Amino acid sequence: MRKKQNILVLGGKGKTGRRVASRLIEKGQSVRIGSRSEEPSFDWENPNTWEAALEGMESVYITFQPDLAVPGASDAIKGFTSRAVKSGVQKLVLLSGKGEKEAEKCEEIVKNSGLEWTIVRASWFNQNFSESFFLDPILAGHVALPKNEAKVPYVDANDIADVVVEVLLNAAHNGYTYELTGPRTLTFSEVTQEISTATGRDIQFTPISMEEYNAMMQEFNLPDGYLWLINYLFEKVLVESNAVISNDIEKVLGRKPTDFTEYANAAVKTGVWNPVAVGHQ
Ligand SMILES: NC(=O)c1ccc[n+]([C@@H]2O[C@H](COP(=O)([O-])OP(=O)(O)OC[C@H]3O[C@@H](n4cnc5c(N)ncnc54)[C@H](OP(=O)(O)O)[C@@H]3O)[C@@H](O)[C@H]2O)c1
Repeated sequence: MRKKQNILVLGGKGKTGRRVASRLIEKGQSVRIGSRSEEPSFDWENPNTWEAALEGMESVYITFQPDLAVPGASDAIKGFTSRAVKSGVQKLVLLSGKGEKEAEKCEEIVKNSGLEWTIVRASWFNQNFSESFFLDPILAGHVALPKNEAKVPYVDANDIADVVVEVLLNAAHNGYTYELTGPRTLTFSEVTQEISTATGRDIQFTPISMEEYNAMMQEFNLPDGYLWLINYLFEKVLVESNAVISNDIEKVLGRKPTDFTEYANAAVKTGVWNPVAVGHQ
């Protein structure tokens, strides 16, 4: 039986953090959820909240908001890791983005913090289509996105959570950087087809240009920072050199990663893609 630890899970209500926290609790670990709506609260935009959230913690799972590539992220990660060192934290596990060169600066800060560390560099999540920004177009039955030529090795948030729990609890993973991908790449039109088949709904895909996508986002009055990030992710992450499948999930967990079809069939059962349930509650 592994020693019981106090573990702070940042973004503990988000896509990976929520799954990491519930797995750790099931294993009898003591978990503090890092969230703006918990007590003590944790807010990346308010460094005054960091000390209380870190107090008494031995390990931290760091998920940054909105993304490690945004200007200012490295300052926040630097400030947070120094605070973690002062608080007596022993180990940091950082969620990073695969193919995000700018995020590597933040990875280096964690690696040079003097604490034990593991970096988990994930590809885009399957759950972006059921719990995040790609859900609305799926519900509307019409997905219009640029860069349909890009092949993305989507990874499942459940697999990420399994890896994060394993590396948090097992010192054999200290000092390693793992790249997490699913078992195959899919384009946006292939994803749309997969979800269409799984739901039995007619969901159309229309390829558009980056300019058209930007114009659409501007119509919705999305903040400039959000537009910057979406453009960064589409231009820098959706490139051929990043369409590489990794076997690190199998290396860490001793099993194959979840396939997109398996994810889609499981998501259908939750009712998340059922537009009737959303519109008429
Ligand atoms: N999504 C992907 O495909 C993907 C792929 C690779 C890497 N990543 C990385 O994963 C990380 C998480 O991204 P995500 O989009 O998937 O989000 P997410 O984990 O689903 O996180 C959403 C959570 O962020 C928290 N949050 C928002 N603003 C916050 C703030 N100012 N301070 C503290 N917490 C805040 C919210 O928690 P509360 O409301 O409870 O405070 C919310 O529950 C990012 O660093 C991203 O770069 C994401």
